[in-house]
Amino acid sequence: MRSLALLLSCAAVLAAGCSKEPESAPVAATPKPAVETPVDRDEHSYAEPRKVAIDDLALDIAVDFDAKTIGGTATYTLDWKDKTATQLVLDTRDLTIEKVEGEAGNAWAPLQYALAAKDPVLGSKLTIETPARNAKVRVTYTSSPEASGLQWLTPEMTEGKQLPFMFSQSQQIHARSWVPLQDTPQVRYTYSAHVTSRPDVMVLMSADNDPAAVRDGDYTFKMPQKIPSYLMAIAAGDLVFKPISARSGVWAEPAMVDRATKEFEDTEKMIAATEQLYGPYRWDRYDMLVLPPSFPYGGMENPRLSFITPTVIVGDKTLVSLIAHELAHSWSGNLVTFSSAKHGWLNEGFTSYVENRIVEALYGKETASMEYAIARNALKKEIGTMPEATQSLAVKPGTQLDADDALSAVSYDKGAWFLQFLEERFGRQEFDAFLRGYFDHFAFQSITTEQFLDYAKKNLFDKHPNLVSDAEIQTWVYGTGIPATAPQVQSRGFSNTDTARIAWQGSGQLPNKQLTDAWVTQQWVHFLEGMGETLTVEQLKQLDDAYHFTGTANGEIAMRWYPLTIRSGYVEARPEIARFIERVGRRKLIMPVYEELVKTPEGLALAKESFARARPGYHPITTGSVEALLAKASAGQ
Ligand code: BES
Ligand code: ZN
Repeated sequence: MRSLALLLSCAAVLAAGCSKEPESAPVAATPKPAVETPVDRDEHSYAEPRKVAIDDLALDIAVDFDAKTIGGTATYTLDWKDKTATQLVLDTRDLTIEKVEGEAGNAWAPLQYALAAKDPVLGSKLTIETPARNAKVRVTYTSSPEASGLQWLTPEMTEGKQLPFMFSQSQQIHARSWVPLQDTPQVRYTYSAHVTSRPDVMVLMSADNDPAAVRDGDYTFKMPQKIPSYLMAIAAGDLVFKPISARSGVWAEPAMVDRATKEFEDTEKMIAATEQLYGPYRWDRYDMLVLPPSFPYGGMENPRLSFITPTVIVGDKTLVSLIAHELAHSWSGNLVTFSSAKHGWLNEGFTSYVENRIVEALYGKETASMEYAIARNALKKEIGTMPEATQSLAVKPGTQLDADDALSAVSYDKGAWFLQFLEERFGRQEFDAFLRGYFDHFAFQSITTEQFLDYAKKNLFDKHPNLVSDAEIQTWVYGTGIPATAPQVQSRGFSNTDTARIAWQGSGQLPNKQLTDAWVTQQWVHFLEGMGETLTVEQLKQLDDAYHFTGTANGEIAMRWYPLTIRSGYVEARPEIARFIERVGRRKLIMPVYEELVKTPEGLALAKESFARARPGYHPITTGSVEALLAKASAGQ
């Protein structure tokens, strides 16, 4: 399911490979670096980081809620790597560029530049002429109210209804819609920002947010560690802070902050457990920002400030593996980063594995196994239907592939499964030490699958030569389907759920209330997932009377229950279905509902009506996914 939403997000990126011109060949005079950097061209960026790279970014920007724009200056400190390079190429999308200047002596002098026509996927290439190879270049710009990486919410769309709200979502290639950048994970830079806004909103960034900051419309930030552009983040609104521990806490709207802090109260324990496994947390504070329900993802690992959907706040902490996931990215992703989305599994697969280890450390093996089982059942169901080339974790070097599908269930769940396979073969102690060494070795670098494999060969495989074969590794990384060597998961909790479901389907007898009262979200999910394509309306009614699925506040249950009711013609659920998809914008939860609706003419009509009402409150990413689905369905009718 997760993959489907991500697939749709990646669909936008599909054309990228075709519309790119090849980067010019390296110039002979370039001195060879001591360690050859892998030539792994990022098809989603116009930047030429092997010629010149941003080392530091200083932003001086204003957040304008009336105009729905972010504008001001971006000043880059540059590292000129190629001694003959005379241009700085930046990625932009829908930005208005007012002027470009270069620092010369102590003064700023205008530079010539050209903003190319907009490519639908990549945006507009900004080519700046820098014959003097200036150490600093400054761009004055304004974002568009339709910036793909920002959402602007009116006060009515917020919890408190008093103040407007805005937030960014830069991954995968949306940072360029609010800052001109070398928008590729191959470039890492430090940043600082001076941000002004109306004085009644709090502004936060993926940087050193001060829990005690006062609202005055004038904020400064520093991110002293080098980060890739997709981790640039900003949010502003009626945000208050509540601590969880000395280094962790929650930012949220006042009406939400207590519930969120309670739900996420285990965060400090999660940080400590991850440090125990993989070494110190290197980013100083770890705070979470709870976004409005329109946030299109579950979470986003913006450094020092994960962005979190409110849909995981269900009152019993059963969905906090999402926090474990975003926290885990502080090692896998933010510290050691994929060098392009083609190596997505290095971020998401490693993170899903670490997430599961955190869940196991805090909540026990059984909970961790249930989570693995849910993810793997979905992967098993889906992988066979995917194009062969997208079933492998990584594309063999030299293979040209559509730049799609980098972040599917394959990256997340086959990736985590591969690491669990290695853990079982080498033993937990050895594998934990290896992974810790890997995070240290590649800290603050962006790497390819092949760099991981080389490192693993030297530091794991060759050290214990008979534990895994080369062929097994090749099959995991480059093969299709699920390898025969995949470890199986056992869950007692799920056996009990299976038994209850089978008994009910056979006899109509619902399980004992004492039993189901103790079920956690994962068991309800598993209970529903095993129901098959359809049930009778009477059966659905019986379940609804007993468990009140229709109208549930738990999105993980809703995203499974509503499609089942639609397929089965259980029309009583319709008003609540409409409410759900109009209130929530998280794609993973609502796309399965839309997908089921569009299969019939009445369903399609309902989907269109709901979408029309929801659209002003949806994020551009969600709008894009729903629009694409509705257009396809309408064309097919
Ligand atoms: N980094 C991802 C979100 C993302 C991926 C945004 C690709 C844009 C492109 C984040 O860490 C993530 O994986 N979020 C998941 C939650 C997780 C528990 C699997 C999500 O949003 O569903
Ligand atoms: Zn992730």
